[in-house]
Amino acid sequence: MSTHPATASTRPASEDSREISMTGIGSESEREIPDIPPNPVMEALKLNVFYGDFHAVHDVNLSFGKNEITALIGPSGCGKSTVLRCLNRMNDLVSGARVEGEVTYHGQNIYARNVDPIAVRTQVGMVFQKPNPFPKSIYDNIAYGPRVTGMKVENMDDLVEEALRAAALWEEVKDKLKQSAYGLSGGQQQRLCIARTIATKPDVILMDEPCSALDPIATSRIEDLMVGLRDDYTIIIVTHNMQQAARVSDRTAFFTARPDETTGNRTGLLVEFDRTSNIFANPNDKRTEDYISGRFG
Ligand SMILES: Nc1ncnc2c1ncn2[C@@H]1O[C@H](COP(=O)(O)OP(=O)(O)OP(=O)(O)O)[C@@H](O)[C@H]1O
Ligand SMILES: [Mg+2]
Repeated sequence: MSTHPATASTRPASEDSREISMTGIGSESEREIPDIPPNPVMEALKLNVFYGDFHAVHDVNLSFGKNEITALIGPSGCGKSTVLRCLNRMNDLVSGARVEGEVTYHGQNIYARNVDPIAVRTQVGMVFQKPNPFPKSIYDNIAYGPRVTGMKVENMDDLVEEALRAAALWEEVKDKLKQSAYGLSGGQQQRLCIARTIATKPDVILMDEPCSALDPIATSRIEDLMVGLRDDYTIIIVTHNMQQAARVSDRTAFFTARPDETTGNRTGLLVEFDRTSNIFANPNDKRTEDYISGRFG
């Protein structure tokens, strides 16, 4: 993992701003991003993941800052989805998966014995690569989560509208809330899935390649949406789209996979984690530079 050239406490804010405006990369052009995530909402500490005997992810340490967007990038098979799934215990649902190390949420280890994974998932919601609405109406897709989690809801209509507005979908669906969600376009379905995630009022939203099935216009809408949601949520996104990582994220974690000398199995590891402007304009590690410049992966 990269070490930062200066710590937040030693570098004046004005200097950061100057540096940011010079790079013009990522959402930093409008935001001041401290060197290290202040007030991390989640942290991965010496995270190792195994599928049976296969060591998929080795010793990952990461911090996810409040109201920041963190992008996880790297070549196929380097463990991005695996790490993402650890953050809300989705790997519990994968048979043979084993997690070592800690993942903390506001300082509490979510893998501690007394922690209910379902409670974790209400705080740390997830949006998947392929839009996966339920075979229900648009309205019921949104209302489902609050109903099954027993959320106290004063007025479900208001909650549905609020979630659809937050996901920038309300205007397109307000007259057909009782129609099947399957009648929506792919981009609309993905925004519906984001609205569904927001409806249960999580703190953190995980997104695994949320735009990979979408056209450039729908992708751009989701990217705008992510940036808008950042004010209220902490967002962690896996993407293969370098421009997307550069455009929307505040910080980027670059992963790669290294073959084991004896077995040849490729274990994923974190190469570098830094502000997005540094990763794209001034990476510390040659492997990062090769990847983002398209020479590898
Ligand atoms: N359910 C599973 N069972 C066994 N091995 C798995 C499972 N899921 C992932 N793996 C393996 O773990 C490694 C990391 O996979 P992962 O899906 O996390 O990679 P990724 O970086 O998300 O790749 P991609 O960019 O292709 O989505 C790969 O070698 C993969 O084959
Ligand atoms: Mg993946």
